[in-house]
Amino acid sequence: MLHLPLALLAGLFPGGGNGDALQEPISFHLIQIASFANSSWAQNQGSGWLDDLQIHGWDSQAGTAVFLKPWSKGNFTDDEVAELVDIFRLYLFGFIKEVQERAHDFQLEYPFNIQGIAGCELHSGGAIVSFLRGALGGVDFLSIKNRSCAPSPESGARGQKFCALVSQYKGICDIVEKLLLESCPKFLLGVLEAGKEDLQRQVKPEAWLSSSPGPGHGHVRLACHVSGFYPKPVWVTWAMGEQEQQGTQRGDTLPNADGTWYLRATLDVEAGKAAGLACRVKHSSLGGRDIVLYWGHPSYTGSIILAVLLSSSVFLLCLALWFFRHRRSYQDIL
Ligand SMILES: *[C@@H]1O[C@H](CO)[C@@H](O)[C@H](O)[C@H]1NC(C)=O
Repeated sequence: MLHLPLALLAGLFPGGGNGDALQEPISFHLIQIASFANSSWAQNQGSGWLDDLQIHGWDSQAGTAVFLKPWSKGNFTDDEVAELVDIFRLYLFGFIKEVQERAHDFQLEYPFNIQGIAGCELHSGGAIVSFLRGALGGVDFLSIKNRSCAPSPESGARGQKFCALVSQYKGICDIVEKLLLESCPKFLLGVLEAGKEDLQRQVKPEAWLSSSPGPGHGHVRLACHVSGFYPKPVWVTWAMGEQEQQGTQRGDTLPNADGTWYLRATLDVEAGKAAGLACRVKHSSLGGRDIVLYWGHPSYTGSIILAVLLSSSVFLLCLALWFFRHRRSYQDIL
């Protein structure tokens, strides 16, 4: 049972190949979350992401960008970056003002929030596709299709009214188009190059086991914790010998504060049947040498048993040698 997935994984994680770590497609995108509590109070949260890695923050008080990585500016000059930051400051300020002024017009009831995501995505063939989507109260509101504003079906008449309004602002539309189709692809390629060393690093996971009472009577829940690895793709399962346990439940891969990842895989078993189960971990950083942890047999117990066996066989060997060397003399005596 285990052989097929293993063969597939061998293809996914070629041993030690550092350059293969980047998943495709890879995107750079900005996220805006605007919360409107009442007619006089609103706030923006802004951030910049390379897939699920945050590389930019936004300081709303100071109205300026926060660069979270030494390579967060990609290959843009300080002047280019300053110009973009100015655009976003104006946009974020203007956005809140416009929405507050038109809240009544669009029948928006406080409190509400608006989310926006805009960026571009590099596909395996090298093509870069840009995108922009907006949501109101967690429901799709609009997106950009064929270079124009397209209301989502869920947004109804309000979405159509909004897109009609937006298309009147030719100047703003031109700026958005330029940012999405020119600046974003240029920035994405530059930032991937600037952050290459960091993005393609390989960090080995640590793994440990724990248990807790299972859901059923006399059951135990075994947990295999895998933490501190990078990049994100990892394979963790419970197995009995070669037999992968179908009941293995994997959680979400969660971020650690240092940019590495954590994953937990659990298995519910009858308390008496846990012996012989092992957690197996595959990751690109391990170069094909999987981590295998046996339940109830910590690796040091194995080492102690091996050491005892080894030393006793060495002792027996010495005894035998000594015996054969001295046999003659014993025979003489007897
Ligand atoms: C508006 O909301 C803010 C934040 O929740 C609150 O502190 C403030 O008192 C509210 N103002 C009014 C006029 O309700």
